[in-house]
Amino acid sequence: MAARRIAFINEKGGTCKTTLAVNVAAYLAGKKKRRVLLVDLDTQGHAAKSLGVDPRGALRNVFHLLTEPGVTLDEVTLPTSTEHLFVVPSWKDMAEFPTVAGNDARRAYRLQEALAPALERYDVIVFDAPPSLGLTTTNILVAAEEVVVPVATTYLALDGCAEMVDTVAEVKARFGHDALRISLVVPTLYRKTQLADEIVEKLKAYFPKRTAEPFALSVTVDEAQSHGKTIWEYAPWSRGATMLQGIAEAVDRAGT
Ligand SMILES: Nc1ncnc2c1ncn2[C@@H]1O[C@H](COP(=O)(O)OP(=O)(O)OP(=O)(O)O)[C@@H](O)[C@H]1O
Ligand SMILES: [Mg+2]
Repeated sequence: MAARRIAFINEKGGTCKTTLAVNVAAYLAGKKKRRVLLVDLDTQGHAAKSLGVDPRGALRNVFHLLTEPGVTLDEVTLPTSTEHLFVVPSWKDMAEFPTVAGNDARRAYRLQEALAPALERYDVIVFDAPPSLGLTTTNILVAAEEVVVPVATTYLALDGCAEMVDTVAEVKARFGHDALRISLVVPTLYRKTQLADEIVEKLKAYFPKRTAEPFALSVTVDEAQSHGKTIWEYAPWSRGATMLQGIAEAVDRAGT
């Protein structure tokens, strides 16, 4: 069976896209024994960094995979300290991707085409998106089928979520990509306040059965990321790990 393709996207910055992409990928690989490929597409390179892999150390990264015809997926795929989990790093080069690919009629399909060999080799492909819309995010939406939207439970958060609903609908129509869907919405950076609870309730009303339990603020989660470790490596018995396990299980179920 071809790999599931799950993208973590929100055009707003700092909504926990990378934290969730990395830890869900690590959970599916380490705990569920799936073969998982995590593909970073953000210029910040945080997905690899969060796994203790220095993206600057890679001779070639996702940018070269997408822009240089001779570069193979194997050349840009790195192992991680989690068994069954591999990462394709990104770095500042990716900022040039829209310019370099700009005139190609098939520019929106570059990621999908580059990952064709991975479909049989992996069970799951996870994409970590940049905090912006544009050619990179369009490539992710064309290559993915399931979209997980992390929504910060703060002021104006619902605006970003509404934008994502529109963007997914637009890509679906423009590229005839019927399988593309928002599979899960995750309220993030949650602190029990009236505003946060109102946002969670609105999300549940708009996405019934597709809204995960809130991902609360946890210093341990932040610490794990800054140490380049997954939560399962850094603090497997923490509240952060319990919350992330719940979200990873919800992502897993959303595919069935
Ligand atoms: N549950 C949490 N509690 C506390 N801090 C968290 C939590 N989840 C993530 N963070 C921290 O919040 C910051 C932003 O998280 P993250 O990098 O996952 O967001 P992002 O959406 O990928 O950001 P960007 O849009 O810049 O790519 C990071 O420093 C991360 O460690
Ligand atoms: Mg990020």
